[in-house]
Amino acid sequence: MPKAIQIATSILAADFGRLAEEIRDVAAGGADLIHVDVMDGRFVPNLTLGVDILRAVRASTTLPLDVHMMIVEPERHIEAFAEAGADIITVHAEAVTHLQRTLHAIRQLGKRAGVALNPHTPESVLKYVLSDIDLVLVMTVNPGFTGQEFLPQVLPKISALRDMAHSSGHDFRIEVDGGIGPQNASVVTSAGADILVAGAAVYRSASRRDAIEHIRSLAGS
Ligand code: DX5
Ligand code: ZN
Repeated sequence: MPKAIQIATSILAADFGRLAEEIRDVAAGGADLIHVDVMDGRFVPNLTLGVDILRAVRASTTLPLDVHMMIVEPERHIEAFAEAGADIITVHAEAVTHLQRTLHAIRQLGKRAGVALNPHTPESVLKYVLSDIDLVLVMTVNPGFTGQEFLPQVLPKISALRDMAHSSGHDFRIEVDGGIGPQNASVVTSAGADILVAGAAVYRSASRRDAIEHIRSLAGS
């Protein structure tokens, strides 16, 4: 059964000086999840936020927090992020040596476990961890920055993951992240995505609510 499409708004594109207000704004505008991008300046060129900011985000909303860890050795920090209020913890396949162990540890903490794949990483890396994942995050840009351009060559990976879920009998959500907006909401959901991350498309719009509703209406079509 197809799952309801969810919109995860990325706070990376928000005004950090008014973060709580920015989060309340998207929550009131209909966001389903708050996507939190954690970057270490090593796995990706950019450096963003850590556990203390996540705690502040947790205090400003009751929406689920979708934590995207773009850091090397994420297993060293998952407990701290879980304690600070993450609901979903997603690690990059490229940044973890012992992927199954890390996914298992996330679930042991009572959180949902996700794996993110860079644009060049094939879905086949997930073949032997399918029973350990709740979500696959398909990067449709090279991670690091908001406002980058969507890479259409990643679309076949979304379809391949959808097929993998069907043929294996393992149920997981497929989230897309990077350059997502009204211009591609329909094509990514047709391919099989059911959670759409949107940063610039929401936060660079005068009305957060209109932007979220616009993406959602196109995603359903
Ligand atoms: C990029 C991050 C994304 C980013 C999305 O590395 O993982 O979550 O904030 O922002 P937009 O939607 O502007 O590409
Ligand atoms: Zn992200």
